[in-house]
Amino acid sequence: MPRLAIFASGNGTNAQRIIEYFSGHPTITVKLVLSNKPDAGVVDRAKNLGVETMVFNRLSFYETGMVPEKLTSCRIDFIILAGFLWLIPKNILTAYPGRIINIHPALLPKYGGKGMFGNSVHEAVIAAGDPESGITIHHVDENYDEGRIIFQAKCTITEKDTPESLAVKVHQLEYRHFPEVIEQTVTRDSKINPI
Ligand code: GAR
Repeated sequence: MPRLAIFASGNGTNAQRIIEYFSGHPTITVKLVLSNKPDAGVVDRAKNLGVETMVFNRLSFYETGMVPEKLTSCRIDFIILAGFLWLIPKNILTAYPGRIINIHPALLPKYGGKGMFGNSVHEAVIAAGDPESGITIHHVDENYDEGRIIFQAKCTITEKDTPESLAVKVHQLEYRHFPEVIEQTVTRDSKINPI
């Protein structure tokens, strides 16, 4: 019975979709939402949906065992990054090998790396004049946006698109695919490597 924790830094619309998707799911549950921002929308969304939350700061995340201890005490099996903007420290990567999944709002390996998040990604894609963008769901390693790709989906960019309209298209792809890809990946990887 896999138990998920979601890390998010922002509004949390993806986190909300994921929580709703797995609410009442026969095997997978979202147990915990963690954020580095106490006033992030995701914290309120999680609380409203009855999911436990934890807020941490940079020092506790990188210099203490506070977050991994919480993950262990909640018996978390997989970590989902849904708009989380900090690199995952080694102690968490080691505790969750192949069990951390991120979503990126572009077609990696293009438009990834440090500083590439949210609207800055869409601005770069529009400025480059690319005919398409999309989403990438991937495993997480010690570098930004470089882990093994699990799934990608594309959308078309027209001449009328702005970073804001592209963000809407990309969010629609995220809402449609992210929960299902999490479900498939977690179900498959729990079997390969029983918890
Ligand atoms: C999403 O578009 C996600 O792909 C992006 O942040 C947004 C969060 O939106 N993640 C990154 O840019 C990671 N590099 P949300 O808070 O409304 O779910």
